[in-house]
Amino acid sequence: MAIATQAKYDSEEEAMILDMVRTLVAERVAPRAAEIDERGEFPWDIKEVFAQNDLLGVPFPAEYGGVGGSFVTYVKVVEEVAKACAASALIIAVQELGTLPIMIGGNDEQKRRFIPKLASGEFLCAYALTEVGSGSDAAGSMRAKAVRDGDSYVLNGSKIWITQGGVADVVTVFAITDPSKGPNGISAFLVEKGMPGFSVGKLEKKMGIRGSPTVELNFVDCRVPAANLLGAEGEGFKIAMKVLDKSRPGIAAQALGIAQGALDYAARYAQERIAFGKPIAQQQGIQFMLADMRTEVESARLLLYEAAAKCDAGAPDTTEFAAMAKLKCGDVAMSVTTDAVQILGGFGYSTEYPVERMMRDAKITQIYEGTQQIQRIVIARKMVGKGR
Ligand code: CAA
Repeated sequence: MAIATQAKYDSEEEAMILDMVRTLVAERVAPRAAEIDERGEFPWDIKEVFAQNDLLGVPFPAEYGGVGGSFVTYVKVVEEVAKACAASALIIAVQELGTLPIMIGGNDEQKRRFIPKLASGEFLCAYALTEVGSGSDAAGSMRAKAVRDGDSYVLNGSKIWITQGGVADVVTVFAITDPSKGPNGISAFLVEKGMPGFSVGKLEKKMGIRGSPTVELNFVDCRVPAANLLGAEGEGFKIAMKVLDKSRPGIAAQALGIAQGALDYAARYAQERIAFGKPIAQQQGIQFMLADMRTEVESARLLLYEAAAKCDAGAPDTTEFAAMAKLKCGDVAMSVTTDAVQILGGFGYSTEYPVERMMRDAKITQIYEGTQQIQRIVIARKMVGKGR
């Protein structure tokens, strides 16, 4: 019995895209998922599959080479891929994360220069906010600096935990241009691969999403043309936050997909595994677990699709809905994958079965694009303000 819920379609176009994605996932992504995790290498073949099928630019405007699809469709695409392979889903989500600064803060020239190449997959991108001392306190503890010199800026500093930083052709880097202005003294720059003074440092060894390279990026007297400044000087932090409002639903979708993938696997397994003379799915203890897992997944899905619809509408409460979706879906991914491992027992703990990978992959969704604690701060501040 299949228990997977198929997302309702918002349009004929969305139905076509998601049908195509399901076929690609079954034929191309799912068979590679375990290997991608084991080798810990960026799956260039999967990136090509996505590029050839226009999946890297779903929510980008058609006038800049994107599909012109909705955020709702975009999150459903990420969710479908993540059911089989979280690292592959992250390629699509990070292409959105790395392009959003240009969509939000870029001028027409910058949009024309970069977005078509990002939509087609000719370019990959990354988003570089985090530093050694500046994770949650993104503005207050930032150290990277950019100083104007003629028609360029000289950038110095380091960024860490940069998803796809080592394979990106263009990276949005946030740096301080006026230390006296706090968050309003931060600016955003498009740094391109090969710019002198820009280098890729340490590659992290991680618990999960092992097929997604996470690296340190270093900038030593890196000269960035002023034409690569996004928005005006001092607008960088607001661009960074507006980006996260639209990218957190993508990570929520990754989390939801992981949870659904683990639930589907555990439910199938429970119907096949015999204990005490009958399938364990007929034991009440397992039934209660499956019912709770399903309920959590469906609740998370409703919240995520609502958050994505708010992104599409430009609703005033997008910020808190994006944070709530990331919070709920990340926690559901962690609890559901942990229970899926439990249902499989010893087999669940083995790398021969996918649920242990899914449990390892789920953990990052509670950490990146703002920890679950940061999501709660964002949500609460929208209710009661920041205070003094
Ligand atoms: N939209 C527009 N403006 C916003 C905003 C938003 N969503 N959020 C804040 N701002 C504005 C504020 O209005 C304020 O502007 P004014 O000074 O003009 O009033 C300014 O930005 C500063 O805001 P805060 O005072 O709220 O800033 P803060 O220092 O208290 O920090 C925070 C707020 C929510 C904690 C923020 O630092 C944050 O989100 N931290 C987490 C960072 C994060 O998510 N990092 C993830 C890295 S990316 C990643 O992980 C990607 C990956 O690997 C895949």
